[in-house]
Amino acid sequence: MGATSFRTLDDLDATGKKVLLRADLNVPVRNAQITDATRILRLLPTIQELAQKGAKVIVVSHFDRPKGKPVPEMSLGPIADALGDALGRPVTFVDDCIGPKVQQAVDAMQDGDVVVLENTRFYPGEEQNDPALAKEFASLADYYVNDAFSAAHRAHASTEGVARLLPSFAGRLMETELNALNIALENPARPVGAIVGGSKISTKLDLIGNLLAKVDMLIIGGAMANTFLAAQGVNVGRSLQEADMHDTARDILAKAKEKGCEIVLPVDAVTATDFRADVPTRTVPVTAIPDDAMMLDVGPETVRLIEQKIATLKTLVWNGPLGAFEITPFDAATNAVARDVARLTDSGALKSIAGGGDTVSALRHAGVEKHISYISSAGGAFLEWMEGKTLPGIMALENIFERALPI
Ligand code: 3PG
Repeated sequence: MGATSFRTLDDLDATGKKVLLRADLNVPVRNAQITDATRILRLLPTIQELAQKGAKVIVVSHFDRPKGKPVPEMSLGPIADALGDALGRPVTFVDDCIGPKVQQAVDAMQDGDVVVLENTRFYPGEEQNDPALAKEFASLADYYVNDAFSAAHRAHASTEGVARLLPSFAGRLMETELNALNIALENPARPVGAIVGGSKISTKLDLIGNLLAKVDMLIIGGAMANTFLAAQGVNVGRSLQEADMHDTARDILAKAKEKGCEIVLPVDAVTATDFRADVPTRTVPVTAIPDDAMMLDVGPETVRLIEQKIATLKTLVWNGPLGAFEITPFDAATNAVARDVARLTDSGALKSIAGGGDTVSALRHAGVEKHISYISSAGGAFLEWMEGKTLPGIMALENIFERALPI
């Protein structure tokens, strides 16, 4: 799938036109405070460009999972305010996303105005991809711009259905995400490698299967590595592992060999008998993990090995931390490798692309967020893309050439 098969804002003459902009304003909120505004900030270029071109920008998004009915705590109202603050200009919020109130607000818009509509998931038709709801959305605008890569794995009325009804374009954030992903796996500078961490092979089987066929090297960390080690007869003590996945792990290793994909597994481990901060730790070779201990991070020898391997790569895709990074000192290996990836990226030797909730937190925790070539704003969509799945929101945009632009 090439990023070139999409119409972008470069192809859109938006002046005086009504543009329905699908954003992903599903930002993390705790105690009514936005804890991470990344998705809002990344949306600004698209809104600013459309508004500057004189479009009437109608923003739609879901927020959280209200299950098809209005839930006051899941209103997009406060997030619309935060968007207005970030834009440095007022935006109008309408407490519905279809119907007469919305039509009235849209009719009153001047060129360059921005309106944010209420949570699309307040209607059951959104997640059911109900054509009637998609039609209601389409009736509001002349054009559809999708900037919600992070919701593109959902075939919903505002991500997929409506794209079939209006001339559709990728927004700037969508375009950037697709270009970055293209560089990462579709058309990478080789050798290309991937770091895959996380706790369970069972949840990342599709991902590993797809990566094996595409990358030259797979570096495996996190608790998932324990299962691979145990499957090869290593005693991993009380480490988290999936005993029922040993056959699968061996199959993966055999397949990797067949495809010429080098698998890098930990050679030493930081172990403890408890998973808590400041617990006494022992660093041992993976072949000497005590019976009563758990591997909670990969050790310094493994870090050195990973650094040597990464130095041979031109492209690296990262999903999943190497250890239990939420608790010190088990963040040490992830931090060290993250800093090394940042250094190589800064020097121009490596293109680094990362995504997935935990990975982004881990890179932020290591303080290298700004030194990675691209960090995706997506969680689930990034994983599904890494699994090689077709994302319906993107498919709908890809089919654009079958529809003529209105004159
Ligand atoms: C996300 O946060 O990953 C997207 O906004 C999709 O949200 P969902 O998992 O509730 O569909």
